[in-house]
Amino acid sequence: MSPYAHITGWGMAVPKRVMTNDDLAKIVDTNDEWVRSRTGIGERHIASDEESSATLGFDASIKALQVARLKPDELDLIIVATSSPEHIFPATACIIQDRLGANKAGAFDLLAACTGFIYALNIATQSIRVGAARNALVVGAETLSRFVDWKDRNTCVLFGDGAGAFVLQAGEQEGGVLSSVMRSDGSGGDLLSLPGGGSKHPATVESVREGLHFIRMNGREVFRFATRVMAQATQDAVEKAQLKIEDIQLVIPHQANERIIETAMRNLKIPMDRCVVNLEHYGNTSTASIPIAVCEAVGDGRLKPGHRVVFVGFGAGLTWGAAVAVWNGPTDGVREVLPYSYRLYTRLRSLARRILRRIEAFIWGRRYPSV
Ligand code: ACO
Repeated sequence: MSPYAHITGWGMAVPKRVMTNDDLAKIVDTNDEWVRSRTGIGERHIASDEESSATLGFDASIKALQVARLKPDELDLIIVATSSPEHIFPATACIIQDRLGANKAGAFDLLAACTGFIYALNIATQSIRVGAARNALVVGAETLSRFVDWKDRNTCVLFGDGAGAFVLQAGEQEGGVLSSVMRSDGSGGDLLSLPGGGSKHPATVESVREGLHFIRMNGREVFRFATRVMAQATQDAVEKAQLKIEDIQLVIPHQANERIIETAMRNLKIPMDRCVVNLEHYGNTSTASIPIAVCEAVGDGRLKPGHRVVFVGFGAGLTWGAAVAVWNGPTDGVREVLPYSYRLYTRLRSLARRILRRIEAFIWGRRYPSV
């Protein structure tokens, strides 16, 4: 029997700095009433110069490991879903792996825009189901504020920074992630894009002058697409899990716009009291929005062990997807794991590896070691 993939840890981190709609109205032609009524957003967290996708992702990961009572070096796999990585390469996942001291884990980034967390959850689940990994860390980490044109009121009011993480562990007991669907339609790629900085438009004075390094969006088209696919993906994932919509206790959707969520829930005939919405305080944190909403739902008691929950998202690509899981919480056990206590050891080990690499380079000079 293949093992089940249980979600045993969760954590979130957001920057300290909060930017309200009134703060935004001082830099762009907008107002609190417009943003609230069109999106449901009241404020968002914005990263400081010291914060980045990796620092936020690391903080969320530590919390998730703590909940799961798992040591970083017990991880086999780290997937970071992000549209605002630290660099094109190395992967943000490797930076987090190094800071955690997860020295037995494979680590990579996954780019499926705001659907990235659902995709990453599915890949980690399948790795556990086939026995390729026993313990996996799935992170959604974003600092999209760095890619927003703060002069464009159509986009800058929407996004916020933050990170969320799940630990998934293999278990013999039936449950965990029951089903997932992943979908895409590249014909809609131009509706939501960040054209600059890749191989097609590498950074040049021209590309920067043209603002190619900012998010571009056709809001109305994305809105229409989102309401359609959120309902469809939810239905497909629920059917795949051999359940009915009535069997679902809670829906935790990607937090992009309250009106999108309300329309999708209406189409699914799911009352809003069975749906988590926390847009007011975070805005759209892209891949981080679902795990952040999960942490809040666990914190305020809305998501309880035994609940059947749907995670559903959409984003650039176009991509969309959903997953159904039985929420079971941390595995039983008394083991107290304090991942923070590994930090000093981890930093020393990382430093030692860097020094060793320098020494090797000094000894070998321009030669390759003989085989
Ligand atoms: N403040 C005040 N007025 C504004 C603002 C603003 N921030 N933004 C736009 N307006 C104006 C427009 O200029 C327009 O004025 P006009 O009629 O004089 O031209 C008017 O408000 C209406 O604009 P619409 O675009 O029709 O507004 P709409 O009701 O569609 O709301 C919004 C726009 C909020 C962007 C909506 O379309 C939306 O949420 N779309 C989905 C976006 C989304 O979810 N993106 C994230 C995807 S996830 C990912 O992968 C990153």
